[in-house]
Amino acid sequence: MIKGVVLAGGKGTRLWPVTKVAGKHFLPVGDKPIIYYPILTLKKAGVKDILIVCGPEHTEQYVRLLGSGEEFGVNLYYTIQVEPVGIAHGLGLARSFSDGQKIALILGDNIFGDEFSKAFASFDKRDQGAAVVLKRVPDPKRFGVAKFKGHKVERIIEKPKRPPSSWAVTGLYLYDNRVFDVIKSLKPSARGEYEITDVNNRYINEGTMDFIKTKKFWIDAGTFESLHQANLLVRKNRNLR
Ligand code: DAU
Repeated sequence: MIKGVVLAGGKGTRLWPVTKVAGKHFLPVGDKPIIYYPILTLKKAGVKDILIVCGPEHTEQYVRLLGSGEEFGVNLYYTIQVEPVGIAHGLGLARSFSDGQKIALILGDNIFGDEFSKAFASFDKRDQGAAVVLKRVPDPKRFGVAKFKGHKVERIIEKPKRPPSSWAVTGLYLYDNRVFDVIKSLKPSARGEYEITDVNNRYINEGTMDFIKTKKFWIDAGTFESLHQANLLVRKNRNLR
């Protein structure tokens, strides 16, 4: 059984002053707050137990908005990331919640047009390893980007100045339970964060990373431009409303 983690901490500084007081994940996309979309992506993929990792500023609002998860047909749990020192750090807080199981991590501002039930079911059958979802984008500099050698991904580079491909690593990741040991051994990056890209490169080096390519739309709604686009796309895709 795969357990889910939604990362909803962080300061949302790219959306200031809008997110100076109101958290980014509560902003509307279509007729729902952003955070609904990643929860629904995990639910549609078959995940039943989901941990919401929130910053201390907004914990109470998350609980008021999302409650037990009954409305979504899932069980929701909450924990606090005191300082937003990296996506890998946020995931690390899910160790006891994971209870030795595999983990699906999704970033709280990521909206997917696709559904991943088959990908999750086949990952669940694997003995070990990880998987990430790739999407071709026009602006790869903003993301982790896959560097290919032939057809194989040899490395992921975080926010490269000169992107080696147009394949962005989206904010949906699957890991075996060894991920928590990998996280423990990480050092902070030059920008002072525990990087999920460092975790992913460990699995690539080990030869146990799978890549799932999505053709449907994907948006990281973390900037004004992408938030606007997310609203346009969700309007067009009725199944997401
Ligand atoms: O959206 C995909 C991209 O997400 C990937 O391509 C990158 O490899 C990955 O590093 C990440 O980049 P971002 O710069 O977009 O991450 P950001 O800092 O915006 O955080 C993404 C979400 O995770 C956001 O909803 C807030 C949450 N977060 C972030 C950090 C750093 C936390 O909950 N805690 C944290 O410490």
